[in-house]
Amino acid sequence: MRKPIIAGNWKMNNTIAETKQLIADLKPLVKDAKCDVVICTPYTDLATAVAETKGSNIKVGAENVHWAEKGAFTGEISAKMLVELGVEYVIIGHSERRQYFGETDQTVNARVKAALAAGLKVILCIGETLEEREGGKVEEVLVRQTTEAFKDIDKSELENIVIAYEPVWAIGTGKTATSQDANDTIKIVRDTMAKLYCPKCAEEKVRIQYGGSMNPKNASELMAMEQIDGGLIGGASLKAEDFSKVVNY
Ligand code: PGA
Repeated sequence: MRKPIIAGNWKMNNTIAETKQLIADLKPLVKDAKCDVVICTPYTDLATAVAETKGSNIKVGAENVHWAEKGAFTGEISAKMLVELGVEYVIIGHSERRQYFGETDQTVNARVKAALAAGLKVILCIGETLEEREGGKVEEVLVRQTTEAFKDIDKSELENIVIAYEPVWAIGTGKTATSQDANDTIKIVRDTMAKLYCPKCAEEKVRIQYGGSMNPKNASELMAMEQIDGGLIGGASLKAEDFSKVVNY
């Protein structure tokens, strides 16, 4: 019912030359994928990624976008600029942006609205820190992050937003949530979406990925879980062979 979606998050990795090579290696390996395949690259690689993936089943995304249409925001990039490049997706609210660059629930919401208005599809990241998990606050944090991110977002946009549940303690650490735990936590997010919108929309339209040390070894187990509709892949998206194994889970 919900088509799985596997997205790579390259973070601050790969030059233009490396982008060309990685995509050339990746294309034949993922061409028969049953899921949607996306690679999210640094801004400087986007034009190359769009050109090199043309005619393939790989879609391209950015890793952030500003909320304003244009103006005095030195160093920022607007949604319109991304669309003009041929970019289709954008990651918003990644925990590294929340942690190191002052991203808040409010700026996440503003960015989501701007991205949708320009016609981009959003990969919206949420997830609790280790401290929040140990403090028994997982549900509280996820409900808050989800509710704030979707503020003033119309039901008709739900198909254009993929939620990525990424427990912060599992990102880049090699520690994965158990598949059962990831499934149960994602259920909390889906229930929240059911309350914010409607149970049928949450069930049929909202795709929710797991992210955090997902790799060729654990992908099939995670993807077999009822609530998990895909993955947001960091480290394992930087090698064509690894990423393709996740895509072909
Ligand atoms: P990881 O990163 O797969 O390297 O843990 C995931 C992410 O940050 O999106």
